[in-house]
Amino acid sequence: MAKVWLTGGTGYIGSHTYVDLLEGGHTVFSTDDYSNSSPEVLENITAITGKEANNYEVDICDLEALEAVIQSEGKIDAVIHFAAFKAVGESVEQPLKYFKNNLVGLIHVLEMCKRYAISHMIYSSSCTVYGNPKELPVTEDTPILPAASPYGLTKQMGEDIILSSLMDAGIGSVLLRYFNPAGAHESGKIGEDPRNAALNLVPVITETAIGKRKEMAVFGSDYPTRDGTCVRDYIHVSDLARAHTLALEYALEHVPSGSWDVFNLGVEQGVTVLEAIQAFERVSGQKLNYKMGPRRPGDVVAIFADASKARDRLGWVPLRDIREIMRTAWEWEKVRSR
Ligand code: UD1
Repeated sequence: MAKVWLTGGTGYIGSHTYVDLLEGGHTVFSTDDYSNSSPEVLENITAITGKEANNYEVDICDLEALEAVIQSEGKIDAVIHFAAFKAVGESVEQPLKYFKNNLVGLIHVLEMCKRYAISHMIYSSSCTVYGNPKELPVTEDTPILPAASPYGLTKQMGEDIILSSLMDAGIGSVLLRYFNPAGAHESGKIGEDPRNAALNLVPVITETAIGKRKEMAVFGSDYPTRDGTCVRDYIHVSDLARAHTLALEYALEHVPSGSWDVFNLGVEQGVTVLEAIQAFERVSGQKLNYKMGPRRPGDVVAIFADASKARDRLGWVPLRDIREIMRTAWEWEKVRSR
């Protein structure tokens, strides 16, 4: 069993991974400045797992404060680095905010690995590194295309920074390229809880259905896809969390210092925006108030994963489909809107 440091451990994917790691018997602590989460998440992780959850309120860019925490924790086996900003549109308006938080934060984590002999790092990357891919599904060997946003650039640069620093930091690393994480924990106790208005499709759908928004727009209806709307690979956050535990265990066993590996994490199913809306309407019994709108700048037309490498090497089997994503997202929306 490993001792694991999560950066951003009270955030959306971080909190679900915290649960999965505790259930797997690992020892876990988190650093998170609550910039897009809240301390109540810890109580809810404890309610789900029956185990203590612990977070230090630290900004990843504050090296001194971060070092004080890492020093106090003693021997750490691995870090899973989630802490980052992720709003594509905001990154276009405020690129420096994104470069600072996502890149300086990463450099600080690598510095901690070096100074405190943390031997493994799991990194939250994204399918955004593939840009608008020419061939589908995308494998880990699909060419990396120019980033469509500063956010995407931070993920591409993040991967490069890690691969260039493996020897210096003394780590083995696994890069995880997420497709579209969505849904919530089946307990209804944790889920995505953004501080600002949601921008991603699934929370926009649930916020519209519950009445927080009057209506929503489908961004683009003239794409060259089966119904004219964009295609994405929606992956349930609990399946994604599971993949982190498996990647951690794989890294500790098979990825020695100075080496690395990379995995796509998706369910290998392309779902259009209209199909996602239909799935929501079926599981919730709610009619959604949506209209067709213009394209959103920067959107790729279609992307879905070939995740056979994660299945073969990590033994990862995603268990949930788009209906389960919508069911749990809807349950969570009802809980957080109380
Ligand atoms: C984007 C990033 C991804 C990142 C994620 C985090 C790209 C290519 N992808 O995913 O790397 O991890 O954000 O935020 O940069 N849609 C609507 N109406 C809405 C909202 C969304 O029609 O109100 C559509 C979008 O046009 C898109 C799909 O729903 O086709 C999914 O959008 P979204 O959930 O925002 O995720 P991505 O843009 O795919």
